[in-house]
Amino acid sequence: AAAKGMRVGSSFAWGAPGADRGSFANPAYADLLKRDCGLLVAENEMKWQALRPSATAFDFTRFDAMMAWADANALLVRGHNLLWHQPKWMPRWEEAHDFGATPARAAEHLLVDHITTVCRRYGTRIRSYDVVNEAVDPKDASLYQTALSRALGSPEATLDLAFHTARRVAPHAQLVYNDYMSWEPGNATHRAGVLKLLEGFKARGVPVDALGVQSHLVTQGIDARATIAALEGEWRRFLDAVTAMGYGLVITELDVRDNALPADFTVRDQAVANFTRGYLDVMLAYPQLRDVLLWGMTDRYSWIEGFEPRKDKARRRPCPYDAAFKPKPMYMAIAAAL
Ligand code: XIL
Repeated sequence: AAAKGMRVGSSFAWGAPGADRGSFANPAYADLLKRDCGLLVAENEMKWQALRPSATAFDFTRFDAMMAWADANALLVRGHNLLWHQPKWMPRWEEAHDFGATPARAAEHLLVDHITTVCRRYGTRIRSYDVVNEAVDPKDASLYQTALSRALGSPEATLDLAFHTARRVAPHAQLVYNDYMSWEPGNATHRAGVLKLLEGFKARGVPVDALGVQSHLVTQGIDARATIAALEGEWRRFLDAVTAMGYGLVITELDVRDNALPADFTVRDQAVANFTRGYLDVMLAYPQLRDVLLWGMTDRYSWIEGFEPRKDKARRRPCPYDAAFKPKPMYMAIAAAL
């Protein structure tokens, strides 16, 4: 990847020394990061929920420790994220926050202060930000509202302000709108909402450089060919429309679920690998794609285990390394695709 000018990496977490987590402080996990990654992203520690104990306070302890480790190992870090525009992902206090007599001014101040403080703190060490995460409701393609966006006036005004502020205080950085719209036919409404949002950004002159394609994927059958064929249709048309508007692409959070497959490891791992390869082949055909990030290196710490357990309770296997840190066929598939 490096030889092609691309970067590959993964999410990682904070942890106490030796913690059994996907952390830099877990030597086994740190080894995987150092061996395979050129680029990292904090799984949770840069989110408002982690950085903002209250409307007036910041707590950078954990994220600073992660940045320090990345710096010491000459690894780049993406910023994830400056605004996760959904009520359930804002910190608890935000919902009941009193924006006072001039709510629009207070909301503007809160958002600008957050982005300015975070971006100034890390300066040029962070060269790519998910400025806004998941603002589109997949049910009806509308934009979510939060207490912040209600006070500020509208979701559009909130997202635009986030990007304008990020451009001003981090002019060196790639600014990304990140979302999980994916290739499945059932995601058409979500994709339409994302396209509309990206068109709106262009029309209003909002500084957005790239679409973050999260890539929390689901492979359907043992034979990945049907799934991959589906990618060639609507999904490519979606990416064509995005890139035609001048946006770059980033794979920000790749992992693969195997919902419909039998519990047998060998079969599932091969299907996941085949699908990963097919997906990356489609994605890498776009020269606009420079960076590929996994959402975790090993099945042992994958969020999918808790987010969507398999019905048969068999362990999830969505990552390139298994729970014993052994590389799986998915690892080889990624290497081959690159
Ligand atoms: C997830 C983390 O992996 C979990 O640990 C946390 O509980 C919730 O968030 N899209 C995103 C990521 O943009 O921030 C999410 O990360 C996964 C989906």
